[in-house]
Amino acid sequence: MSQKVLLLPGDYIGQEIVPEAEKVLARICELYDLDITTESALIGGSAYDAEGYPLPASTLEKARAADAILLGAVGGPAYDNVERDLRPEKGLLRIRSELGLFGNLRPAIMYPQLVDASSLKPELVAGLDILIVRELTGGIYFGQPRGIRELDNGEREGFNTYVYSESEIRRIAKLAFELAGKRGGRVCSVDKANVLEATVLWREVVTELAESYPDIELEHMYVDNAAMQLVRAPKQFDVIVTGNMFGDILSDAAAMLTGSIGMLPSASLNESGQGIYEPCHGSAPDIAGQGKANPLATILSVAMMLRYSLGSPAAADSIEIAVGQVLDKGLRTPDIAGAGEAVVTTNEMGDAVVAALSNVTKTDG
Ligand code: NAD
Ligand code: IPM
Ligand code: MN
Repeated sequence: MSQKVLLLPGDYIGQEIVPEAEKVLARICELYDLDITTESALIGGSAYDAEGYPLPASTLEKARAADAILLGAVGGPAYDNVERDLRPEKGLLRIRSELGLFGNLRPAIMYPQLVDASSLKPELVAGLDILIVRELTGGIYFGQPRGIRELDNGEREGFNTYVYSESEIRRIAKLAFELAGKRGGRVCSVDKANVLEATVLWREVVTELAESYPDIELEHMYVDNAAMQLVRAPKQFDVIVTGNMFGDILSDAAAMLTGSIGMLPSASLNESGQGIYEPCHGSAPDIAGQGKANPLATILSVAMMLRYSLGSPAAADSIEIAVGQVLDKGLRTPDIAGAGEAVVTTNEMGDAVVAALSNVTKTDG
């Protein structure tokens, strides 16, 4: 039976990188004889422009019916003055919440060819392979009450609520422990339990659950220290599990270790394995429309989609190998190019991955 993939390009560079990933998906379907159909829908600012709403009901309906979703990025300066509830980012938060995508996997893997593009010394990042498991549908992003209110003295006050229930903590920790069991066997849980009660509970629940995973080594770390350790000695980490906001911040930092945020894919999964796959970066308005965006994070997100939602791990491996080959050949978008190194466009990078795929699958036999 045919599988359905929904494409949600979104805004700014989202419109440039998703078509490259789509080409890669089309080629991999030919090579592996996969029966995957795609359709596109609007989200974010482009949906707001067309329909006055960042997550139209028709998009949500198509998303529910899809086996997997590939998203570009949303937001940008054109929407900075839009009413808060109608901002592009609200569309993204809402689709994550509606689909129950609590588990956000953000792998920061160092491609050996890009060691010199990292902002850290080569010996600190060579061989780096970290998996950040970020809780995605709770915490301060969704806690109630929230808002901006007027005080009696006439000044305004902004407020948000950092809240996690035991069951929310347990299900993300379980995902982290299970994933750790398939790789390095170590979990570092990141919190701020020296200050925030919500994370005191977080630490308690994670510690309790660890008893069911005797083979996994658990460590706890405060988020400020974790940020420092990530840039001091990042290879000490295997799996990092943390809440929504800390995970957002730490994953951008981890991205730069690998050379560029343009290299970091992600999967956001619900309990039934359905997922949104998207690069960790945003809509990069500063480089949009210039062919400068690196499409590899989105292309690598297609690999994660094939592996986690579409049951085609071999096809996923082939995409990752093809990306490695393209980097071997020295192809670089500006974000991963060294000083004076020749650069390729978004489009040329996508084409190169498509071309490399034929060789990869041939040598696979
Ligand atoms: P950003 O990630 O868009 O850009 C940060 C920097 O990284 C910029 O200099 C940009 O040019 C660069 N960059 C990002 N992706 C790149 C790529 N693929 N190739 C080369 N360079 C790349 O973050 P920002 O500037 O803080 O946010 C811009 C907009 O994107 C905002 O509206 C924000 O809300 C939104 N955003 C959306 C998502 C998402 O849709 N998942 C994620 C983050 C930010
Ligand atoms: C991300 C983004 C989003 C987040 C924004 C755009 C809502 O930064 O996917 O990392 O904070 O989750
Ligand atoms: Mn982010």
